Amino acid sequence: MDKSKLWSGRFDGETSNLTEAFTASQHFDRRLAEYDLAGTIAHVRMLQACSVITPGDSEEILTGLRQIIEEIREHSFPWRVEHEDVHMNIEVRLIELIGDAGKKVHTGRSRNDQVATDLRLFVRAAIDQILQAISALQSALVDVADREADTIMPGLTHLQSAQPVTAGHHLLAWVEMLERDWQRCGDCRRRVNISPLGSGALAGTSFPIDREMTAAELGFEDISANSLDAVSDRDFVIEFCGAAALLGIHLSRMAEDLVLWSSENCRFVDLGDAFCTGSSMMPQKKNPDVAELVRGKSGRLLGNVTSLMVLMKGQPLSYNRDNQEDKEPLFDTVDTVLACLQVMTAMLSNMRFDREVMRAAAVRGYATATDLADYLVRKGIPFRDAHAVVGKVIRSAQDQGVDLDQLSLDVLRGFSPHIQDDVYDVLSLEGSIAARDQVGGTAPQQVREAIDRCRQRLAGR
Ligand code: ARG
Repeated sequence: MDKSKLWSGRFDGETSNLTEAFTASQHFDRRLAEYDLAGTIAHVRMLQACSVITPGDSEEILTGLRQIIEEIREHSFPWRVEHEDVHMNIEVRLIELIGDAGKKVHTGRSRNDQVATDLRLFVRAAIDQILQAISALQSALVDVADREADTIMPGLTHLQSAQPVTAGHHLLAWVEMLERDWQRCGDCRRRVNISPLGSGALAGTSFPIDREMTAAELGFEDISANSLDAVSDRDFVIEFCGAAALLGIHLSRMAEDLVLWSSENCRFVDLGDAFCTGSSMMPQKKNPDVAELVRGKSGRLLGNVTSLMVLMKGQPLSYNRDNQEDKEPLFDTVDTVLACLQVMTAMLSNMRFDREVMRAAAVRGYATATDLADYLVRKGIPFRDAHAVVGKVIRSAQDQGVDLDQLSLDVLRGFSPHIQDDVYDVLSLEGSIAARDQVGGTAPQQVREAIDRCRQRLAGR
């Protein structure tokens, strides 16, 4: 077999097998093939429109490219390590298939602007998938929030019972975290969607090309302004992986709540047999492994963005081969984040809350203590003094092992003569959540209005 390279004109000696294996990327960057082919088709049409190649050559090349698309689809495409990467494998195959016309496909182009183009198309498509997957998760969460708009649970700060909240409110907090991720990915997409094609190896090209034409054909919003920057820039990959890492952190925090809620000591939620696994040794176990893995996988996402930043930090302008190392972390980020979004959507739609257990936990934690303090404020006591009075009430309730609303009016009045029998309205969990009736608060009415707003936002996408 002819092992000569597309670039071997100035070489006398053969490439070492070690070098071939070490520098090859075709085994992973073949994933870019569909984008590489789309870029090449746009480039060829443009070359013809600009009379750089003849209509006959263009026709032959496009026919050859169509066959390559077919071969790749049928897994019969001959990927070869000696041709390094996706770009040269396709070009070599094209020349094999159609002969001399194939040798013109690379006119006015370099692998450096080619790979930058491929990567931007890949990231753009990945973002579009992720945007959809985020919306699907949000809409699943909104549905559960709707069911649980009145469900009372202890709201925590410092992992200690703080004030009662509704489960619906908690779920909508997740929806807001995801909303920022959705926006961040969308913002990032605008900077991804710029065409570097036509930047050549680093300095542009001497052929009379039409960069606007290829950009329009590939759906890019604009063309890059500086060829040196365009072939070397991977900000868009870092930015995307950064947005994905933050999304992963949000998913991890959600997963952590689920692990806590489903634990033996908490039992707020049943994640369902379909989304738990057992222990090989302990027959009683039903473990939240899916949630734990979502939490664990956020580590990879952080690792990937860190790898990419370190990859770039020492690179002089313009293109350097280091950049070939950008692909595996990027691909891993896309796969990981999509898998996490998908499994979380399914698991969360399936989970079942235990409303009684949650309510009982909210009662246990003296979660209405702030309501008692606020009550005293309304009776004319400065908040700081009210806070101190309620602190003493709590100590006494703890000593007796009772809840606040089990203390008699006489006992309560012993702490403050301002307390009257209407105090029991505020000591109840329902009274406490209903009182938090400002926009952004946990009152069931507010939760329902927030759900409407979320649904409108999602429907507008
Ligand atoms: N496989 C290379 C990459 O991923 C493509 C560009 C190579 N360019 C070059 N001049 N060696 O970045």
